[in-house]
This record gives sequence, C-alpha cells and structure tokens, in this order.
Amino acid sequence: MQAFEPCQACHALTRDAGQKPGPQLAGLIGRPVAGDPAFDYSPALRAARDKGDVWTRERLDLFLADAEAMYPGQWMGSPPIRNAKHRADLLCVLEGREALHRPDGGSLAQHATGSGRDVRSRGPDYSTSR
Ligand code: HEC
Repeated sequence: MQAFEPCQACHALTRDAGQKPGPQLAGLIGRPVAGDPAFDYSPALRAARDKGDVWTRERLDLFLADAEAMYPGQWMGSPPIRNAKHRADLLCVLEGREALHRPDGGSLAQHATGSGRDVRSRGPDYSTSR
C-alpha cells in the first residue's frame, strides 16, 4: 500500500470514494477511462471514454509516467512518476495483487531492475530511473 500513499489524498481504492478530490480507483484495470459514475471528469478524460479507451496495465503505466502527454488538458494535479519501479509497484496496488510479490512481477516490472533505491523511503521518487 505504501506506493499508493501519495495518491491517497485524492483517490480511494474502494467504491465509496467519500469526499476525495479524485475519482475512486476500485477495479481500475479493465475499467473504462473516466469510469467512476460519481465523478465529474475533465473533457479530456470524457473524450477518451467516449473513444472507448479502457485502463490496461500498459495504458496506466504511460498515464502515470506522463498523464499530460497522454490526455492533454486532464485535471490530475499530480506530477509524472519517472521511476519505473515505483510505477510497477503502483500497478500492483491498483490491480489488487500487491501482496503476492511475484518475482517476475509481470512484464512491466522487468524494466524496473537496477534501481538501487529503497522504495520504502517516504514519498514518490520523481528522479529518472537510472
Ligand atoms: C492532487 C490530487 C491527485 C493526486 C495526488 C493523484 N490524483 Fe489521480 N486523479 C486526480 C483527478 C482530479 C483525476 C481526474 C482527472 C480528470 O478528470 O482529468 C485523477 C484521475 C486519475 C486516474 C484516471 C481514473 C479514471 O477513472 O479514469 C488514475 C488512474 C489516477 N488518477 C491515478 C493516480 C495515482 C496512481 C496517483 C498516485 C501516484 C494519483 N492518481 C494521484 C487527482 C489526483
């Protein structure tokens, strides 16, 4: 859950988002973009939904790396996450399988090797992953 800490201020992982400034992210993988019926999304994300975009692991990885490049004009005021390991951890949380800690971690985690950083350190790491 630690990877999700910086997101928690704005997002919940349950269907009851409460009073968060962002949409709830329950069951996100496989869900249409802008899929929280209770949330008023930006025109950019609503256009993506109308186009039929769905959250896959790949799309999510790109979104977290640079949301503005993917959906120009979107409203998420969270900085890009350049660290691939951090994104891979987030994908596990969002997929609801972080407890499994699979050594292969899915294809995306393979890009994450070689970062000697302690991912348990506090706060997101926005440095380039090298
Ligand atoms: C400052 C508040 C804020 C923070 C922090 C934040 N988000 Fe968001 N997020 C938003 C808002 C607002 C939107 C809706 C954007 C829009 O409508 O354009 C959003 C949208 C999203 C979406 C698209 C949801 C959908 O239903 O299509 C995802 C995925 C997402 N955020 C993931 C994250 C993750 C992962 C983090 C942590 C790294 C994070 N967010 C941090 C505010 C935030």
